[in-house]
Amino acid sequence: MLLSGKKALVTGARKGIGRGIAVRFAREGADVGIADIVDDEETRRTVELIEAEGRKSSLHIADVSKTSEISRLFDEFLAEHGRIDILVNNAIMPDQSAGFVEMSEAYWDRMIDLTLKGYFFMSQRAAKEMVKQGASGEKGGRIVSLSSVHGYRAWPDDTAYGICKAGLKRMVKSMSLDLAGHGITSNCIAPGYIDNRLPDDGALEAAPGTIDELPRLAGFVGSARGGVPSDIASMALVLCSELGDYVNGETIVVDGGLLAGGTPDSGADRHDE
Ligand SMILES: NC(=O)c1ccc[n+]([C@@H]2O[C@H](COP(=O)([O-])OP(=O)(O)OC[C@H]3O[C@@H](n4cnc5c(N)ncnc54)[C@H](O)[C@@H]3O)[C@@H](O)[C@H]2O)c1
Repeated sequence: MLLSGKKALVTGARKGIGRGIAVRFAREGADVGIADIVDDEETRRTVELIEAEGRKSSLHIADVSKTSEISRLFDEFLAEHGRIDILVNNAIMPDQSAGFVEMSEAYWDRMIDLTLKGYFFMSQRAAKEMVKQGASGEKGGRIVSLSSVHGYRAWPDDTAYGICKAGLKRMVKSMSLDLAGHGITSNCIAPGYIDNRLPDDGALEAAPGTIDELPRLAGFVGSARGGVPSDIASMALVLCSELGDYVNGETIVVDGGLLAGGTPDSGADRHDE
């Protein structure tokens, strides 16, 4: 197992990619705390899935766009787990589209507050703890933030989302320089189109038949299939384990070839072959 004994915190892990990462980390031997703004059966289901892997879990209901809640979240997490080795910044608000002309100040603020400010202060607090831990014992840590293919190129109505996801790519560059001496690596994963609906049985793959819908509708993924949370969880595992020891300040695109220039119909055509 690649993460034996590690203590990980994953934000936005109620569902989707966050759940996929949290459960994969538990499967690899980590205790995993999850943070989400929504407290419902789905959120508690992620905790159950982690515990079903034989690992300790904890649930922290928090809005990670607010520094006061970030502070409380870390206090709670550290009280439960004693230390932090891995942070995954993954939370995202449901409405990721807003037209350039129509966008309100409130929407802009919400997007920036969660995806730039929140990811920054989550990372800063995690780094503070990791530096402190390093001074008194085991050195190092891993911080991974979810960027997006929208951080590389524009799609309609994605100005605020795209700016934030591009900003994260730059943020991890600075973090890597400032934190490398402490053995802390900081990277982003930039997913392509990932089906974030997971079946309730805890499988890391989406239900058969659903995973091709997004790219087929979008029509420009040059891959034979749509992405699933386990595709992203696999890369998170690399970056957060010893396999990724020498990767720092990078953004790894995991998109099945989307950015490589698939033609508008190639996803659907290749699927039908
Ligand atoms: N799904 C994709 O195709 C895709 C593509 C590129 C990038 N991404 C990125 O991957 C990450 C996960 O995406 P997903 O599709 O799995 O998301 P999702 O919508 O399935 O889950 C996001 C989670 O974040 C939580 N959340 C929202 N606001 C929050 C807040 N203020 N504080 C705490 N939790 C909050 C939600 O309740 C939800 O559980 C995001 O950062 C997203 O931008 C996803």
